[in-house]
Amino acid sequence: MKRTEAIELPAEEIERQKALMHEFAALENRPHTYCVVTYGCQMNAHDSETLEGMLLEMGMTPAESRETADFVIFNTCCVRDNAQRRALGNVVWLKELKKTRPELMVAVCGCMMQQPGMGEQILRQYPFVDVAFGTHNLFRFAELMLSAVKSRRRVVEIMQDDEGSIPEDLPVKRVSPYHAYITIMYGCNNFCSYCIVPYVRGRERSRASARIIEEAKSLYADGVKEIMLLGQNVNSYGLDVEGELSFAQLLAELDKIGIERIRFMTSHPKDISDELIDVMASAKHICHALHLPVQHGNNRVLASMNRRYTREKYLERVVTLRAKVPDISLTTDLIVGYPGETEEEFEDTCSLVKEVGYDSAFTFIYSPRVGTKAAAMPDQILEDVSSRRIQKLIAIQKEITHSNYAKYIGQVHSVLVDEASKRDATQMAGKNEYNITVNFPGSAELIGRIVRVKITSAGESTLRGELI
Ligand code: SAH
Ligand code: SF4
Ligand code: F3S
Repeated sequence: MKRTEAIELPAEEIERQKALMHEFAALENRPHTYCVVTYGCQMNAHDSETLEGMLLEMGMTPAESRETADFVIFNTCCVRDNAQRRALGNVVWLKELKKTRPELMVAVCGCMMQQPGMGEQILRQYPFVDVAFGTHNLFRFAELMLSAVKSRRRVVEIMQDDEGSIPEDLPVKRVSPYHAYITIMYGCNNFCSYCIVPYVRGRERSRASARIIEEAKSLYADGVKEIMLLGQNVNSYGLDVEGELSFAQLLAELDKIGIERIRFMTSHPKDISDELIDVMASAKHICHALHLPVQHGNNRVLASMNRRYTREKYLERVVTLRAKVPDISLTTDLIVGYPGETEEEFEDTCSLVKEVGYDSAFTFIYSPRVGTKAAAMPDQILEDVSSRRIQKLIAIQKEITHSNYAKYIGQVHSVLVDEASKRDATQMAGKNEYNITVNFPGSAELIGRIVRVKITSAGESTLRGELI
């Protein structure tokens, strides 16, 4: 059933949390410098911006390095086993540091914490962790920290997804003054058979479009040039709320504000509507770049993955997209070694990749996640088979990227200048409309501006050019 309005946390609760942030700041015996270590996707990156916003309100300042910080927090990911192992490995590394600096405070949060039993595991196996919480109670961070410092006890609080609720107006420290993330929806309802995200992020909850538009307008007023709209499945934006705008309508509204560039991720191929494609084609500011994860090229595997589209349907969407937005740059995510994947089925992924001709692709070896449907399937694929397959797929994509990028040579692209090269201060780097890094000779005063660059050569994952 649809909600009649977006489910926001009561404004009083956010006010109460802000008061607790200031109460924390007034404590004497508290950490003064922080370091936030982030794993995972843009959602997590944006959550970390909120954490930093709260940390600043709590009177802390960024530490020079992880080693010297009084407080270190790990915002974790668990989408694949290696993401989780990396996070836990670094948490353990702090155990040694804490031996020499007993006053060091350590916290762990994020998706990994939402897995069943994780709270208990942290309490048992990681006694040097002071505070642990999940994705649903990020807004309670100040309260948990205050309680840990005041009581000098460990605080572990994981909230289950009670439909989740949306915190508005928490402080945010944006990493860049030129581009900004805007979360438009939380959670995921899709339950792809291999994926842990719906279990750790809860059900889909759309923010009110009025809130999103207001946030975008204020970013525009602050001089932001590029916004990235975030959601696990942005195409189903608004579907959970009665009378809310559709994603295509939301984009059309945001386009009117005047922000130079609008991007969004991630789009689920099953509901890329004609309406959305039309908006992309006619809008002024929506980048002609679309990340459209296909995951696999074989229909049996796609069905087993619960992706709810076929290879043919996906390819039809690509044809329509290209017909209406001829210069669109497509990128994707691919999984190899899904349970039961035969050599022929894997070849279907290879042929699909060639047929679409993506500008680039993220390739992953399937990683079983406890509690998901696919983890319990028979015929898990051996590591060496998956490794061989992924190598082959990477090689195929590399060639396609190379020939696609070669086609950009001679074109003039608008580039939002990000930074000077670390090795050579006379070389600038930025992103073109297609989200590809472009390097060119220039000076640091161009940073934050959108400039015109003629592409002169193509590297493996970047382009080179000259200012015109
Ligand atoms: N919501 C997004 C992606 C979220 S996770 C979407 O639906 O496209 C990002 C990517 O990680 C996925 O696209 C998928 O390719 C990969 N992934 C997710 N679970 C995985 C698993 N168990 N093993 C390997 N790759 C996985
Ligand atoms: Fe995971 Fe599928 Fe949801 Fe993406 S759409 S987050 S892959 S369950
Ligand atoms: Fe990882 Fe959570 Fe994102 S599991 S990919 S950080 S939603």
